[in-house]
Amino acid sequence: MTQRPLKIAPSILAADFGSLGDQVIQAQAAGADMIHIDVMDGRFVPNITMGPLIVQAVARVARIPLDVHLMIVEPERYISQFADSGASAITVHVEACPHLHRNLAQIKEVGCRAGVALNPHTPAASIREVLGLISQINVMTVNPGFGGQQFISASTSKISQLRRMALDGGHDIDIEVDGGINSQTIATVQACGANIMVAGSCIFGHADGIAAGIAALRRAAAST
Ligand code: DX5
Ligand code: ZN
Repeated sequence: MTQRPLKIAPSILAADFGSLGDQVIQAQAAGADMIHIDVMDGRFVPNITMGPLIVQAVARVARIPLDVHLMIVEPERYISQFADSGASAITVHVEACPHLHRNLAQIKEVGCRAGVALNPHTPAASIREVLGLISQINVMTVNPGFGGQQFISASTSKISQLRRMALDGGHDIDIEVDGGINSQTIATVQACGANIMVAGSCIFGHADGIAAGIAALRRAAAST
């Protein structure tokens, strides 16, 4: 299987919001490939986080793509607002979208990369019919809603299945993993075919700082 380049996507959910701009600049200077922004509405997930204003604030300092993960119901009401705020990629949840095909088309229409996220219980087959519209798949490796949770190891077979489905169908798709990614888990998900690694607590919470957190992840991935 051809390996796609590894991309590190620090999730600002674990950042210090008192100095968010500075934290984003540090992550970027340390070689982050994109900034992951977790939008939660208190309805799809039991937590409320940030909205377009924060995306705009990050966009003012970031020179790398903004990867916006919408953990919200009725995402169609906000897609153009997030695009206007500076999102490069917008990911919606298959469980939140009865009209997923339409929602993906809407994301593409506003000029963003279209992503679909799957909760841990959601099968790979649920997105088979829309693979042609997708630029990236987010395989949730925790139940969405909070940072700092433990990696669900049963999700690894779904990563392999999705990589196989994409290859068999000739689709050029990035596979992102989100939740509990750290130096212990990164090599396993990479071997299964994931290439975008979202990581919050192990980067922004690293004892030696953000750059050390990113470097540790790259070392752990390269050691396989
Ligand atoms: C969880 C979010 C994740 C979260 C990951 O619902 O989608 O992006 O920030 O956090 P860690 O890396 O701490 O598990
Ligand atoms: Zn996320």
